[in-house]
Amino acid sequence: MHVSQPGPTFDVHLDPEWARGALIDDVRRGLGRRPLRLPPRWLYDERGSALFDRITRLDEYYPTEAERSILEREADRIAAITGADTIIELGSGTSDKTHTLLGAFDATGRLQRFVPFDVSEPFLRDAADALNERYPNLHVHGVVGDFTLHVPHLPTDGTPMVAFLGSTIGNLYVEERRAFLAMLGDHLPSGAWLLLGVDLVKPVDRLVAAYDDPHGVTAEFTRNALVVLNRELGADFDVEAFDHIALWDPLHERMDLRLRANGEHHVRVPGAELDLELADGEEIRIEISTKFRIPSITAEVEAAGFRTRQVWTDDRGDVALLLSSVG
Ligand code: SAH
Ligand code: AVI
Repeated sequence: MHVSQPGPTFDVHLDPEWARGALIDDVRRGLGRRPLRLPPRWLYDERGSALFDRITRLDEYYPTEAERSILEREADRIAAITGADTIIELGSGTSDKTHTLLGAFDATGRLQRFVPFDVSEPFLRDAADALNERYPNLHVHGVVGDFTLHVPHLPTDGTPMVAFLGSTIGNLYVEERRAFLAMLGDHLPSGAWLLLGVDLVKPVDRLVAAYDDPHGVTAEFTRNALVVLNRELGADFDVEAFDHIALWDPLHERMDLRLRANGEHHVRVPGAELDLELADGEEIRIEISTKFRIPSITAEVEAAGFRTRQVWTDDRGDVALLLSSVG
């Protein structure tokens, strides 16, 4: 008799109707006044997620392999310290690096559930299917949502560990980051864990190479913000007439990714009932990528109600992983 393997389950907090309304609001707010700005969550449609996946495989983009090396070295220890039975991964993407963690947690015999959480539904569904096949005893429960809004929907039963990897926290502005950490600290019960991956401050030439790669993949990734607006809101951005700019902001210690108009542009965004005049050289802010120092990010995490138990870096000191508990 063939017994079929139960598939992954899903919760969808971002239904297409709601997401479209949120996109329109963001575009009106972001492009309706100066400085022009678009929130990065819209970068991750199917094409954007695939472009990000290509970025992670570029030699210049060090964070992915650096973080993977820490996970490979420390995953058994993380499983032993936390004893978690649920791993919740925020901004999980392909969940590629997470296999290392899941393997170590699976071996403890305690792991029961994996909850990948992402705005990008197609990628989430593919990742959940692959994980379900690879770990047949694990309940894979995907959540389609926005981690700046839907943290209160995360499961809190058992002993959860929230993994927020890849320095995605660095894509939030300071006030968004504080609000996010506070929301997470409030929502998680005592005994829960946070595994946070952050990229560290380093020489500017390496940062600029990582965010302005010579193959132009990062440029395609940021220009995808305009591709999304053309498709979703009927906008008529001349996408190729925008240059990708990657600046180091020494005051805020963050990379600042922008698109700079080449020539004057009159852009119509009918879906948001918006007309936009762009002067030659005018910029649209697409994404920031904050780089951290261990003492200050530890203090921020602690201000949100966590206690940091371990901090690991890779051999080169490029990125850090913080393991913190609630209370
Ligand atoms: N964790 C992976 C992927 C990082 S890319 C890694 O470490 O390599 C960032 C991921 O976060 C993408 O998959 C993107 O779809 C997701 N994301 C971006 N903004 C989000 C938001 N506001 N809510 C939920 N997911 C988001
Ligand atoms: C997802 N996030 C952590 C990436 C980063 O490095 O800030 C996004 C990215 N943008 C350009 N390259 C990579």
